[in-house]
Amino acid sequence: MKKRSDYQKPTYELKKTDLTFHLNENETIVESSLSFHQKEIAPILLNGNELKLLSIEIDGVPFTGYKETNEGLIIETDKLDFTLKIKNTNSPIRNTQLMGLYASNGLLCTQCEPEGFRRITYYPDHPDIMSLFTVTIYADRKKYPVVLSNGNCIKDDGDTLIYEDPFKKPSYLFALVAGDLASVKDTFTTCSGRKVGLSIYCEQGKEKRLLWAMDSLKRAMKYDEEAFGREYDLDIFNIVAVRDFNAGAMENKSLNIFNDQCLLADEKTASDGNYESIEGVVAHEYFHNWSGDRVTARDWFNLSLKEGFTVFRDQSFSGHERSDAVKRMDDVALLKAYQFPEDDGPLKHPVRPEAFETIDNFYTSTVYEKGAELIRMQRNILGADTFRKACDLYFSRHDGEAVTIDDFVKCMEDASGKDLSQFMHWYSVAGRPTVTAKTYFENGDMKLELKQEINGFDGAFLIPLETGIIDEKGKEIHTQTLLFNTKEQTFTFKNIPEGSVISLNRHFTAPVTLKTSLNDLEKIHLMRFDTDLFNRYDIGQEYATDVILRHLYDEKVPEDFLEAFGASLYLNDKAFAARALVLPSSDVIGNRMDIFDVDAVLSTRKRFKKAFAVRFKERLTEIYKELDKTVPFSPAPEEAARRALRNTVLAYLAELPETQSLVFEAFKKANNMTDEIGSLSILVGTPLKEAEEALEIFTNKWKNDHLVLNKAFAMLASLNEDTVTDKVIQMMKNPLFSIKNPNNVRSLIGVFSHNLKAFHKKDGSGYKLLSDTVAQLDNINPHMAERIIHPLCRWKHFDEERATLMKKELQKLMKKENLSVNLKETLARSL
Ligand code: TRP
Ligand code: ZN
Repeated sequence: MKKRSDYQKPTYELKKTDLTFHLNENETIVESSLSFHQKEIAPILLNGNELKLLSIEIDGVPFTGYKETNEGLIIETDKLDFTLKIKNTNSPIRNTQLMGLYASNGLLCTQCEPEGFRRITYYPDHPDIMSLFTVTIYADRKKYPVVLSNGNCIKDDGDTLIYEDPFKKPSYLFALVAGDLASVKDTFTTCSGRKVGLSIYCEQGKEKRLLWAMDSLKRAMKYDEEAFGREYDLDIFNIVAVRDFNAGAMENKSLNIFNDQCLLADEKTASDGNYESIEGVVAHEYFHNWSGDRVTARDWFNLSLKEGFTVFRDQSFSGHERSDAVKRMDDVALLKAYQFPEDDGPLKHPVRPEAFETIDNFYTSTVYEKGAELIRMQRNILGADTFRKACDLYFSRHDGEAVTIDDFVKCMEDASGKDLSQFMHWYSVAGRPTVTAKTYFENGDMKLELKQEINGFDGAFLIPLETGIIDEKGKEIHTQTLLFNTKEQTFTFKNIPEGSVISLNRHFTAPVTLKTSLNDLEKIHLMRFDTDLFNRYDIGQEYATDVILRHLYDEKVPEDFLEAFGASLYLNDKAFAARALVLPSSDVIGNRMDIFDVDAVLSTRKRFKKAFAVRFKERLTEIYKELDKTVPFSPAPEEAARRALRNTVLAYLAELPETQSLVFEAFKKANNMTDEIGSLSILVGTPLKEAEEALEIFTNKWKNDHLVLNKAFAMLASLNEDTVTDKVIQMMKNPLFSIKNPNNVRSLIGVFSHNLKAFHKKDGSGYKLLSDTVAQLDNINPHMAERIIHPLCRWKHFDEERATLMKKELQKLMKKENLSVNLKETLARSL
């Protein structure tokens, strides 16, 4: 177990790192020359994993006094300044973990964060060891015409390539790519007038699909200058798409590497959701150049220093490019759908973890998305202008350093003069506070009684709550940001007429569970009149969740609920309506129950959906006709909103026998991926016989497109029928599917384990499918195996029959031979 409190400052500096690669996919030879300066004489650990050591020398003399351990090599010398030369090999083709140097569809690429560099060569592989890198590469240039690494190419004579990165960096930001790649190129002129060459690479033949990413990149570069004062710092910036990648993308200095799913788009193959996520991820990785690369993290316990902040930065960008309110709705919906369940299950952990077996297991929605919420709260507490000054201070004070979350918050304090010591509980305590709010009227004033509680913590959090008051007629009569910082606190709002309703936690200023004393009529009032669009949506979702939970075990669907929820059918804001009209997912509803009654939630949600369709049949049909037009495709937000609302409405029409056929028609006439996958996903969610037919057409149509094929896998795994488990097992044997490809696994197995009906089938076949796959995958790619096991880990959240079956699968896995550290840690935490 590694502990945050065990941190020790390095006893040396690594002045220079010279690497030479003799690239070969079977066996790559790496020669590394490291210039150390010791501040005191002490053993130095060079991490190494799955490497073959060929030779080692110090200042030109063979060195034999090293010790080999599980972690790597330990060397000790009494020279204060010395050069260590190491020669070793690694095997890209056998590297199925996709960490280190690996082969992907004929190209060679690297993934070093968090601890992949030690799989390339022996090295002090820790983020606080920063060094200047020069990289020399020998490669078969017929096979690998394009060869890239960090920084500037200072030599390429067709035989020898040399790259030099002028910025010192930790090993996790190292990157190398070699392959037969196509590209698009452009330039960006920075605010100080420097011209930056931009190149984005992908496999041959797909380069037209890179234009959206290029467009997004240029907008992100501009935004970072304007909103955060961050100018790009090198003359070139490269992005490369690869097929096999464990995560979304990686921010290696000047050479970002992407999962091709998060980079390639055109109207035929990518949905509006894909366009949005590409824009967001391109920005995210680019923004890391400052929040991550120029200023990096001291150790992996402080991962959220760079990830939480960078997610906050990319969310701000996307909100700016589209609509802040809509972006906020989507981000909070994701937080509630993924981070809240993580908080409520056995894998809960603080945004800044105190201990772990492997950091691989902590690239979580808590570290990323909740981490971003903590940055947002600090911005709200400081105010936007002061927050910007505090960010400037952070970047200038710590440029070129590896720092901590405390260092970041110190900048927030120094720039504002505020004391944020109480705020640090947000970083150190796992879980989220429940805030209970009660309002009443007294002598012409409105009183608000607040109480906060969190499991396993006695103190109080500093909770910023943006608040408004709407009077009986629907007019906003008061706004205020409350700083709620004791366990119980009463706020008084002077001269508030009775009948007024309080709107709390607007924009979701604090990531808490809010329990209010609002009755249904007051909620409906806010759904109609709240000036905060986000809260209008959020109250609607919370209200829907409550009502569905109230009627799990009767046959009712209250008419007043339908009326209120249907009000959005008469609004002009399509993006808002497309979201507000969707009932909360079964997962989100289930997460509110102590024991998730899967069958009751599925059937009740379905009953509500159907009742809504019946109640609003005419209006739904009318809207559908209005939106269902064939126009030239544009990814612009207004057009995306039209398509989104059209699909939301179509999902209701699928519930009615008389309009059902519209869905298959929509599928057949679709001329862009949003409409195609939108209608298909509605079909596979129904028991309609056309579902299978459409899926077959789709799979056949796209079988030669490895990216769209992932959508076909996801659709198969979402089928609403009894045989889906068998179908998934069959598909795993199909040559179109590869368990070595993370996108394939996520789309087929990941999506399957969120198909509640199939996954939780009472015969345990769904659980077994997941655990069998995890067992197989653990030998290939433990990082991925650990990521997909999570749905089983929440066994305590289900009825006894299911819980027993789920637990059994986990116990079986625990006994597996050669269990990875990754999986073992997660199983141990869950059992
Ligand atoms: N730092 C990456 C990001 O932008 C995350 C990442 C990329 C990653 N590749 C990875 C994390 C592999 C774990 C394993 O968020
Ligand atoms: Zn990141």
